Amino acid sequence: MTQFHYPDLQVCVLAAGKGKRMRSNLPKVLHKVLGRAMIDHVLHTVEALRPKSIAVVTGHASEKVREHVGQPVNLDWVIQDKQLGTGHAVQQCEKVIRDVRDVLIVCGDTPMLSAETLARLVDEHRASATDVTVLTAKPLNSFGYGRIVRDEKGNVTSIVEQKDATDDQRLIGEVSSGIYCVRHDVLFDLLHAIDNSNAQEEYYLPDIVPLALNAGQSVAAVAMDDSDEMVGVNDRVDLAHVEDLMQKRIIQDWQRRGVTIEKPDTVRIEASVSIGLDTTIQAGCYLIGATQIGDECKVGPNAVLVDARLDDRVNVYAFSHIHGAGVGSDTVVGPYARLRPGAALDEHVHIGNFVEIKQAVIGEGSKVNHLSYIGDSTIGSNCNIGAGTITCNYDGANKFETVIGDNVFVGSDTQLVAPVSVGDDATIGAGSTITRNVDAGGLTLSERTATQYFSDWKRPQKDKR
Ligand code: UD1
Ligand code: MG
Repeated sequence: MTQFHYPDLQVCVLAAGKGKRMRSNLPKVLHKVLGRAMIDHVLHTVEALRPKSIAVVTGHASEKVREHVGQPVNLDWVIQDKQLGTGHAVQQCEKVIRDVRDVLIVCGDTPMLSAETLARLVDEHRASATDVTVLTAKPLNSFGYGRIVRDEKGNVTSIVEQKDATDDQRLIGEVSSGIYCVRHDVLFDLLHAIDNSNAQEEYYLPDIVPLALNAGQSVAAVAMDDSDEMVGVNDRVDLAHVEDLMQKRIIQDWQRRGVTIEKPDTVRIEASVSIGLDTTIQAGCYLIGATQIGDECKVGPNAVLVDARLDDRVNVYAFSHIHGAGVGSDTVVGPYARLRPGAALDEHVHIGNFVEIKQAVIGEGSKVNHLSYIGDSTIGSNCNIGAGTITCNYDGANKFETVIGDNVFVGSDTQLVAPVSVGDDATIGAGSTITRNVDAGGLTLSERTATQYFSDWKRPQKDKR
């Protein structure tokens, strides 16, 4: 995102509304769009302006919003106890704003906004020396938005909300984005003058427009290039719509940056994912959370990556699931593999079909190709772990570790009963149940049958506390 610098600009983010139309226990601005809360999208955007400071107005479930956002240095929290309207919300910021030229007001429920558009609004507002500038758009469907009313000369005279608009006014295609840039030295006098004599009995921010004109101040509109940027989320239908729009934007952005995305309509790529050059994402993939993918990888079709890290030239074949795991360069995973949190694969590793790896390090060049479970383990380099190998890491109460050295060959259908270790260069014969440590080198077969091993064994009890 382009970075700007407006050291004499105050940003106010309005996020106090309950969002009744969302029908949710969660405050509206914490609902996620492509994995990131709406408020985070908006804060991310306004931070790129590098303003003097940002005030966020919260009210409904304010503690949840604050807990979620934390405390960035240049951010003031402002409480609006009762949600009496957008004008009233901005009024609450009066105490925290000082020594700025303009105040930029944005809503917390318009996550598609770009910093470029906001910067253009501020620049045009300043270049024309206007007192009150509103950002407008002409969306395909203007329902629900405040309509921009102009006089016969084309000057903006007022903004009329959907519920207050006459039938004729509802036909107006030009709407308010809810975003304003206002000179600081006029803003609060205007806000003190608004009343709530309207259909919703709210103190409407848009009412500063006629008030400014009455006071002899200037009002202008700046039109958005792309009306998708101002789509507001008021219910979950809007949420899905905005997610679609943002998904298209993110996918096209990656495509332009050198990523091939097949069947883009079937793919989900969340906002915080990153993807390297010449990587191909095939149909039906879900790339979620903090997933990072290197260069020249191939993923899919239908792979799910959650907080996963792939280095360069990794191949993740169909229907694999990688969550909280790291994969080294030139490694192959799947099809139908599952890497769970704490799985760390080195370079040139092969993980094949129906293999589950959890909390385990797999060393360079090692192969676990078929039908295995490797958990709480460390496997050295250049090992071959045969089909159906299981690390038996859990005795019903506690987890134990398996440690395997370098160049080890584990025959098919072997159970390694942890805690257990296997020395370098060892070979374990097929069908072995390994219950004692295996020395380096040489061939080891099950020394004891399972009947012998378990003859005096009692299942440990879980600590009930
Ligand atoms: C608002 C605008 C409308 C504009 C539209 C763009 C008003 C009266 N209407 O309508 O002109 O076209 O946005 O999306 O301004 N909020 C508070 N405190 C309150 C009320 C609202 O902080 O007392 C916050 C909400 O959390 C939300 C934002 O202000 O983030 C906008 O409120 P919302 O109820 O969504 O207004 P809209 O009906 O969308
Ligand atoms: Mg809204």
